[in-house]
Amino acid sequence: MQAIPIAPLVATSWFGYRNVSIIRGDLLHPVVSGNKLYKLIPVFEQLEKGAGTTVMSVGGRYSNHLHALAFAAHAHGMPSVGLVQGYPEQPLTPTLRDCQRWGMTLHWLSKVDYQQRYEEEFWQQWQSEYPGSKAILEGGWSNESIVGGQQWWSGIASDTDIVITAVGSGTTLAGLALSAPAHVKIIGIPVFNDPDGYQGLKQKLAEVGVSENQYELWSGHTGKKFGSLNQEQEEFAEVFYQQNRIKLDPVYTTKVFHAVQSRLQQDKTLLSKKIAVLHTGGLQGNRK
Ligand SMILES: Cc1ncc(COP(=O)(O)O)c(C=O)c1O
Repeated sequence: MQAIPIAPLVATSWFGYRNVSIIRGDLLHPVVSGNKLYKLIPVFEQLEKGAGTTVMSVGGRYSNHLHALAFAAHAHGMPSVGLVQGYPEQPLTPTLRDCQRWGMTLHWLSKVDYQQRYEEEFWQQWQSEYPGSKAILEGGWSNESIVGGQQWWSGIASDTDIVITAVGSGTTLAGLALSAPAHVKIIGIPVFNDPDGYQGLKQKLAEVGVSENQYELWSGHTGKKFGSLNQEQEEFAEVFYQQNRIKLDPVYTTKVFHAVQSRLQQDKTLLSKKIAVLHTGGLQGNRK
């Protein structure tokens, strides 16, 4: 995406863990940090070849995905539409204020309407409101974005044994799993609870050719619920910042780094492995 130059990916160390490097997606871009540009670059390449004249997607009031999409669309001079779970009487979050500033048209969806976002009819209805628009699924899930996620390898040392990422839509995990060298194990840490043991996620991954032996999920690290931290996780983020001067967000990266620390404490065999943990960004969502 020429319209948005991004910095080369670098790795830094984690205080106290000589075997772990932090892959600094948070430093890729001052506005759109983390995995977002990797996922959106190929989508905008398709759009430039005529795949649509408007981009449209869904998300919450603090959505990193809508934020990045609005920014990228603005940079490409393309109209964008955000379907937001929220209500008009709620104050605009800093995320949505940015989206509006970048020209995104916002529509509010009730909780019930938002639940329809996995259905084809949902998108058909919105596409009839915006003919010629390209619908981008939640979190950017698409074959193009999965390929875009493979750019993480540019910052990962070739002698790495284990790569760990947050899992929201699973796009980043799928990209890594599909392109991992044979000696590298890919681990995903879901940031949302799923009483069905992540069967939906596994199924979705299988549909794009990622089989269960290509990755491992570390579950049980979601804390309270999606988007909120328990006290231990909150304290962890504070200490992590003091020791490393690296900010984490409450939705994805705090949960991931806290989970990795817990696993390293529980399973000493991990200390002999060379581990790369992706900092997938999301810091814009910290603003209140
Ligand atoms: C900051 C951040 N980290 C990680 C993820 C999870 O990535 P994925 O949706 O590719 O699983 C997201 C959501 O897209 C995100 O915004």
